[in-house]
Amino acid sequence: MLGRRRLLLPWLLALVLAAPASLARPAPFALRISCGAREDVHTPPTNTLWFKDFAYTGGIPNNATRPSFITPALNTLRYFPLSEGPDNCYSIDGVPIGHYSVRTFFGLVKQPNFDNEPLFDVSVEGTQISSLSSGWTNHDDQVFAEARVFIADNTASLCLHSTGHGDPAIVSIEILQVDDRAYYFGPDWGRGTILRTVKRLSCGNGKAKFDSDYSGDQWGGDRFWDSVTTFRLSYDQESFTKESITQASLSPNYYPEGLYQTAIIGTSQQPDLEYTMDVDPNRNYSVWLHFAEIDTLVTGVGQRVFNILMNGDTIFQDVDIIKMSGDRYAALVLNTTVAVSGRTLTIRFLPKVGDIAIINAIEVFEIVMAESKTSVDEVRALQTLKDGLMLPLRFGWNGDPCVPQQHPWSGIDCRFNSTRNNWVIDGLGLGNQGLRGSLLPNISGLHHLLSINLSGNSIQGPIPSSLGTIASLEILDFSYNFLNGSIPESLGQLTSLKKLNLNGNSLSGKVPAALGGRLLHGASFNFTDNAGLCGIPGLPTCGPHLSAGAKVGIAFGACVTLLLLVMCSVCWWKRRQNILRAQQIAAREAPYAKKRTHFSRDIQLARHHNHGHAHSATENGPSLLS
Ligand SMILES: *[C@@H]1O[C@H](CO)[C@@H](O)[C@H](O)[C@H]1NC(C)=O
Ligand SMILES: *[C@@H]1O[C@H](CO)[C@@H](O)[C@H](O)[C@H]1NC(C)=O
Ligand SMILES: *[C@@H]1O[C@H](CO)[C@@H](O)[C@H](O)[C@H]1NC(C)=O
Ligand SMILES: *[C@@H]1O[C@H](CO)[C@@H](O)[C@H](O)[C@H]1NC(C)=O
Ligand SMILES: *[C@@H]1O[C@H](CO)[C@@H](O)[C@H](O)[C@H]1NC(C)=O
Ligand SMILES: *[C@@H]1O[C@H](CO)[C@@H](O)[C@H](O)[C@H]1NC(C)=O
Ligand SMILES: *[C@@H]1O[C@H](CO)[C@@H](O)[C@H](O)[C@H]1NC(C)=O
Ligand SMILES: *[C@@H]1O[C@H](CO)[C@@H](O)[C@H](O)[C@H]1NC(C)=O
Repeated sequence: MLGRRRLLLPWLLALVLAAPASLARPAPFALRISCGAREDVHTPPTNTLWFKDFAYTGGIPNNATRPSFITPALNTLRYFPLSEGPDNCYSIDGVPIGHYSVRTFFGLVKQPNFDNEPLFDVSVEGTQISSLSSGWTNHDDQVFAEARVFIADNTASLCLHSTGHGDPAIVSIEILQVDDRAYYFGPDWGRGTILRTVKRLSCGNGKAKFDSDYSGDQWGGDRFWDSVTTFRLSYDQESFTKESITQASLSPNYYPEGLYQTAIIGTSQQPDLEYTMDVDPNRNYSVWLHFAEIDTLVTGVGQRVFNILMNGDTIFQDVDIIKMSGDRYAALVLNTTVAVSGRTLTIRFLPKVGDIAIINAIEVFEIVMAESKTSVDEVRALQTLKDGLMLPLRFGWNGDPCVPQQHPWSGIDCRFNSTRNNWVIDGLGLGNQGLRGSLLPNISGLHHLLSINLSGNSIQGPIPSSLGTIASLEILDFSYNFLNGSIPESLGQLTSLKKLNLNGNSLSGKVPAALGGRLLHGASFNFTDNAGLCGIPGLPTCGPHLSAGAKVGIAFGACVTLLLLVMCSVCWWKRRQNILRAQQIAAREAPYAKKRTHFSRDIQLARHHNHGHAHSATENGPSLLS
């Protein structure tokens, strides 16, 4: 569902419809993909069909070498160089809602000079289910990752997460439907949990097997059983029977009958059995133990009774297989959940009555809390942002942005909302990443952002006014880009904004007045180095916004006004002069009338002269004369 890369499988419907109508129950949904294959492939011995993934756009197809004989007999793989981004996903549509066993096999690129053991993480439905550790190629039960998951949205998503050592490479993906109550272990089972396969042992059996080889029921998920012939060399022994076993292939798990036909049993010197395996500390494990009384020496109830201990705690007391299963050669399955704090899990079978203990098979799953996904709206907004900013391929940005928590998208900060049980994006940090492109209005779909930093890129175009709707925004750093146009008035609505760096762009026009007021409250805004911002303290005051024509008009108007002013002054001056002259004439004879260049001195002289005699005349021109 998420991500650009998507495998469209139009033939799914045909596959489902092809289920034989004669069966009481329809065949489970099963989808197998041969990664990197150009054609659909059939593999022996069961002629299993694997679909090609050639329409898939990510990664690089190549020829594969298979590190283990249990890897399906496929000859291609797909690998994902880091240059295509750290997270690469298959998103497979058309998967009916239900419980699935999802499994992926790893392989090696068939090239002598290739770094031959890539280490990477695998997630299913956003939850990490595997982290390859070095040496995986040497262990049959580590060349694949498998988990039981609930698929609720018709889309199975499987992602490979680079850890920096080699390029993730996968041979196959299987999505196999299992029973709706498969591996029910208690109230925590279900949508909220994923069972990661840690170990699946067939005891006393010399050969590792898949269900298909056991002719197991198809609702079991085609399990792989690793084989073990002894837990402690020379302290225990193998046992097997050719008798058929009853109650094996029962709902909900449909175990293969063959699983119960072999066992490991104790010896007279060492009657108890002990199996120890390495586990990750501080996890909960679901342990499933399989028994069938196949020992010809034990024929009735009460002849073999034992306790089962896990890491020293007695978990099952007085286990009597015949009593509990009802018969000899009848399957008995016990399951329990253990919290393990250390790095090992030891399962001990301690005889109470009779001589020796027995075990036919062991399954251990890690109970993983399924990750909650990121808000669908926010993922959509991020995808648009990714397109708008033309994010380079190396970013990836595939799968879910926030989960698995071990591998969030780079440049993104996530916050969990426990009310809505989803993740939201609260920070975008994409400074100095060489981004081009522009900002699309859809960025406002990221309603929960506290901070955006796109500083030091080459982003062009305007600042979307929709940013003003991200009410929580505290930090906005768009400095050193090529943003142009004006600062949208809506940014003034961002009342939480504490830091606004718009310096080093080509912005122009009036800064929203509401931002100016904010500066008084300790906010830090930087508007320097732009094409021409104005209007708040520290920036030039804004002139009226005018066209070239208007400017010419204004200039013309100013000239006319000036001219008028000059003319008025001249008129006024002339009039004033006339008045003065009239006064002088009136005062006495005017000998100086022709000497205009000495006008004021002459007037002064005249005044001194006429002091006391010409009151009315001097009163008319005091400002001019003083
Ligand atoms: C894979 O092998 C086939 C022949 O087996 C060859 O034609 C093809 O070029 C190889 N592909 C790559 C990517 O090496
Ligand atoms: C596993 O054990 C739980 C609790 O003991 C029990 O309720 C459940 O039915 C068991 N599951 C199966 C499939 O037997
Ligand atoms: C293990 O299970 C217990 C009880 O269900 C739970 O409280 C605890 O958080 C779980 N631990 C882990 C690591 O999931
Ligand atoms: C979680 O979402 C609810 C509903 O949208 C909202 O009211 C609440 O504030 C959010 N909590 C956090 C911590 O974001
Ligand atoms: C934005 O990112 C750049 C480069 O990563 C950094 O130098 C700058 O301090 C950041 N701005 C803010 C406001 O944190
Ligand atoms: C982004 O916004 C544009 C117009 O505002 C709209 O047409 C487009 O559908 C939006 N894209 C997404 C992914 O929401
Ligand atoms: C902003 O720049 C783009 C090109 O980078 C140009 O097409 C657009 O007209 C400019 N807008 C303004 C308001 O200057
Ligand atoms: C604002 O940005 C300019 C560079 O564009 C820088 O020189 C100046 O120091 C910044 N001012 C503040 C207060 O950070």
